[in-house]
Amino acid sequence: MCGIVAYIGHKEAYPILIKGLQRLEYRGYDSAGVALLNEKINLFKTKGKVSELVSHTAHKDTQGTIGIAHTRWATHGEPNSTNAHPHFSESENIAIIHNGIIENYESIREFLLQKGYKFRSETDTEVLVQLIEDVKKEGNYSLFESVRIALNQVVGAYAIAVISTDEPDKVVVARKGSPLVVGIGSEGDFYVASDAAPIVEYTKSVYYLDDEDIACLKANEKLHLKTIKNEVKDPLTEELDLNIDALEKGGFEHFMLKEIHEQPDSILDSMRGRISAKDNTVKLGGVEDYEKHILDAHRIIMVACGTSWHAGLVGEYLFEELARIPVEVEYGSEFRYRNPIITNDDVVIAISQSGETADTLAAIDLAKRKGALLLGICNVVGSSIARATHAGVYTHAGPEIGVASTKAFTAQVTVLTLIALRLGFLKKTIEEPVYHSLIKELEDIPNKVEEVLKTEKLIKEIAAKFKDARNFLYLGRGINFPVALEGALKLKEISYIHAEGYPAAEMKHGPIALIDENMPIVVIATKEGNYEKIVSNIQEIKARKGAVIAVVSKGDTTVAAMADYVIEIPKTEELLVPLLATIPLQLLSYHIAVMRGCNVDMPRNLAKSVTVE
Ligand code: AGP
Ligand code: GLU
Repeated sequence: MCGIVAYIGHKEAYPILIKGLQRLEYRGYDSAGVALLNEKINLFKTKGKVSELVSHTAHKDTQGTIGIAHTRWATHGEPNSTNAHPHFSESENIAIIHNGIIENYESIREFLLQKGYKFRSETDTEVLVQLIEDVKKEGNYSLFESVRIALNQVVGAYAIAVISTDEPDKVVVARKGSPLVVGIGSEGDFYVASDAAPIVEYTKSVYYLDDEDIACLKANEKLHLKTIKNEVKDPLTEELDLNIDALEKGGFEHFMLKEIHEQPDSILDSMRGRISAKDNTVKLGGVEDYEKHILDAHRIIMVACGTSWHAGLVGEYLFEELARIPVEVEYGSEFRYRNPIITNDDVVIAISQSGETADTLAAIDLAKRKGALLLGICNVVGSSIARATHAGVYTHAGPEIGVASTKAFTAQVTVLTLIALRLGFLKKTIEEPVYHSLIKELEDIPNKVEEVLKTEKLIKEIAAKFKDARNFLYLGRGINFPVALEGALKLKEISYIHAEGYPAAEMKHGPIALIDENMPIVVIATKEGNYEKIVSNIQEIKARKGAVIAVVSKGDTTVAAMADYVIEIPKTEELLVPLLATIPLQLLSYHIAVMRGCNVDMPRNLAKSVTVE
């Protein structure tokens, strides 16, 4: 999720590591740390920015030619200096930095606690470093072997770098699911990082680790590479041909575009560890203790703002359909100023990417005072909303930097789907085969999103046609109505074109008066749901000469014959369509905004987290 930097060679490591962390700052993080190996390991970490880490280490011993450094984006445990990386093993002989999530950390922690290990932090990462120490002690293995064996016991995603005072001339690195690249220096040295941004100024020769690769780096020696299954591999190096600017955005022109393209991964990350491969069921550790309370609730109230409010609307369909619990969706700002009726039979779910939105926070404060159970669906771990709620489920979408929310929305919808499935299963409001087949289909969504992203070229052509429009209408029905609202919001906020989202059938009660040949209308018209009805709505638009851009299911010919442009998305279950149908709308607004010369990542007048009422 966030940043890793490591160095081994003949130069002083500290300045290289700090500069590297600064190059990775764009990835977003909440704390930073560094460890230098110089006979013993000197370890420093702080909450906040890399500049704070630099002040903190100002008069400390930061000497050494081997070191590891990290910017953390908390997933397990609050962002504070104790939970920041690097993490020591119990003996303080081994230090680790880690990006990703160790899914089975609880059972490993339990096992180690029983053996007498003590833990200093709340992180999943500390569990891994203690496991490495345990393996090393039990089998008297080398550092490399201990890391390799430990990784075979780990489920989840990781990019790691490990150093040890027992072998003070090595750095061991490995990856699975989180990126890691090794730069091969010209002076027998190695530079390691989450992406090439910190490496490019030292060397262009790099090796991108594959999943399950583990490498041992020793100055003046060749990179020693294996898989964690112990197969020897030849490191095939590549030449970097990128400038620093592009690298920071992962080669994309804007963070928003990068984040749109990250969605196959971020959706997967939001499901990680929550679907059991063994019996194809959903398990949500964060709310487990409150499940009975939720099932007994008279109603669920979702409170949120902006895009997160749209996720709440999708959640309303999901919860009512799957778990048959009445749901109301409220704007944080409205809720708090109208003396709402709330009792302790209500459950309030606050949805927020940042976890800092003042209106949402104020709403949950009110609900808390009235005795409701509060749950949070936040992206930022340890954020104010995450702390103010009784329990919750993190979205784990990774840091979102573009002001316009994209991957956070699809992660919120994914998490809401998981909760609705779990409640429906417990309440027996969905039949077991339906439950299992929905889970299977949900697991396939990241692949289908990948397919939707391939429509970008066509979407760019559509954007070029309509970039000068002054108004847009977005229509959808059922669970796709909130998708229409979200599509309109995306266009408004980054391209400054006026847009409205409407339930398609409501059009005839007013907005139809706006339709003429100058009005582009985006219609979500997938086969699932009220297809025939939406086909009639498209006919009504065409009769008034509006230009229709339709998002349709693959292979659709009926709408294709009527619409001016069609964007095909793969077929899926009706309840999961929003996860796919949202993507083309994000891309459309992005390309229109770029063509209009707008500042996509930082639109005028907007802030990433709105901490004022
Ligand atoms: C989304 O694109 C917006 N920038 C905005 O509506 C946002 O969703 C809203 O401010 C809520 O933010 P939150 O999810 O961080 O609470
Ligand atoms: N899961 C780890 C933690 O919470 C790593 C987070 C990261 O990737 O920065 O500390």
